[in-house]
Amino acid sequence: MNPLTRRMFLAALTGAGAAGLGGLLWRQSVFAAMDAGQFTNRLRLPGASGLYAPVAAKDVKQITVSELNFEVLPKLPSPFWAYVAEVGGKRLLNPTLLARPGDQIKLRMVNRLKQPTIIHWHGLTNDERNDGFGNYQVDRGKSFDYAFTVWNRAANYWYHPHPHDIAGEQAYKGLAGLLIVKDDDEEKLDRALDLAAGVTDIPLVIQDRSFNFEGKLEYKLAREQMFAGFLGEEILVNLTARPYFDAARRIYRFRILNGSNARSYRLAFAQGARLLDYYLIGTDGGLLEQPQKLREAFIGAAQRLDVLLDLRAASGNEPVFLKSLAFDPMHNESVDEKTGTPGSGADPHAAHAGGGLMDGMEMPLLRINIKSSAEYKRQIPSQLSQLPKLAAAAGEPRRLTLGHDRKGNWNINGWRFNMHETPVTVRRGTRETWLLQNNRASMPHPMHIHGFQFRVLERRDSPAQVKALATRNNGLLPQDFGLLDTVLVWPGESVRIALDFNHPFSGDQTYMFHCHNLEHEDTGMMIGYKVAD
Ligand code: C2O
Ligand code: CU
Ligand code: CU
Repeated sequence: MNPLTRRMFLAALTGAGAAGLGGLLWRQSVFAAMDAGQFTNRLRLPGASGLYAPVAAKDVKQITVSELNFEVLPKLPSPFWAYVAEVGGKRLLNPTLLARPGDQIKLRMVNRLKQPTIIHWHGLTNDERNDGFGNYQVDRGKSFDYAFTVWNRAANYWYHPHPHDIAGEQAYKGLAGLLIVKDDDEEKLDRALDLAAGVTDIPLVIQDRSFNFEGKLEYKLAREQMFAGFLGEEILVNLTARPYFDAARRIYRFRILNGSNARSYRLAFAQGARLLDYYLIGTDGGLLEQPQKLREAFIGAAQRLDVLLDLRAASGNEPVFLKSLAFDPMHNESVDEKTGTPGSGADPHAAHAGGGLMDGMEMPLLRINIKSSAEYKRQIPSQLSQLPKLAAAAGEPRRLTLGHDRKGNWNINGWRFNMHETPVTVRRGTRETWLLQNNRASMPHPMHIHGFQFRVLERRDSPAQVKALATRNNGLLPQDFGLLDTVLVWPGESVRIALDFNHPFSGDQTYMFHCHNLEHEDTGMMIGYKVAD
């Protein structure tokens, strides 16, 4: 029996659904054994079907936010929400929008959901109206017209829903797509490594999901998950459960997006017990100047890691797994703020209750089968691109403290989201340093700012598992050498970032700054900030 159907079967037997005994047994057997045979579903690739199909953003005139049915699990259709575009007589689901810097994008979003929605272009520099967030959401049956220029450099951006309070559910049900901007540096790299989109240059969207006993997507937050964020019981890559991918012995580019609601991953490529080297070449805001050699990297929700894997370094034909290594998820919500010791009533496992795979547990994500030895002699170039300089601003940084109140509501400097307030105002054209300080009694928060890409200047008091990955001074991680729009801030950690509020839009513009754990965002860990002209 196919493992997925087997699980449904077991779950149905116990009559307890996804969180029942059957589900539990199934999970334990699969993830304890890391049995290569379980990865029997071919990884979905853009272009093969309508899902993620690449299309020039300029050619998309309308995106209809739709409710439909989709077989996320093989042969088990589930209600699924998708961005649907009709282009050239083809129906595309969550299309991969392609653009070049300077392109004009003009499209109409039509809301066919039974609730309000809006599309946010994550990572793009936009004016307030085209940025797309809750204040611009439109009701069912209504539409919203976008018209904007791609101001950003080449990178892997993405788009997803951003309505008030329900972004988590909407993204969970399927709404998310990539927006890939390419430029000359990108094309140089394609040529140097002989990369082809969808073949050797592959987006990997990692999302955790839970299913009911009929294999239908289920978004149910156990009480603990309303605080910690949703944790699913199955990790999907490109909406494929237990995926495999047949590869040649050569260099691959993987554009990795953590599209999960709340879960972080510690990404590594492993062949048996051996971790393979891989190369970080880009982050949220595009290519790094030089590739960074790694064995592992954390990726928080909404972040992108653009990597090269050279399968010539794999030995023999044993499959390589992309996996998430075990880590301490640091659900330290109830430690004593001063001493760091657990307070009374602290239950380190509380956040794991509710049926999802434990946060921080080791898990395989994708099996890569080495099928052929291609004639391939290319080498990774030492120089990839030029990054815009972004120096620290003079003077005291602006402090933003991440924590929660006694009722368990996450906040930023004690502020919770109020659509009529913008507690932070910055001046257009100025530089600022922000100090993001996460309390010890906290959990990791992937903090995201709309409208601008930033640089990390320094990390302090990072937990040991993070410090161990720091490569240079100031506690910086390899991904901190790139432009970012989202940064994972661990409990007790302080991260200093440099921002340049220079943009081409006149008039005051309001944007969002929030935690991209979508359950945290939905429950108010978000503020509006104003860029005053
Ligand atoms: Cu990707 Cu405000 O979100
Ligand atoms: Cu965003
Ligand atoms: Cu958070």
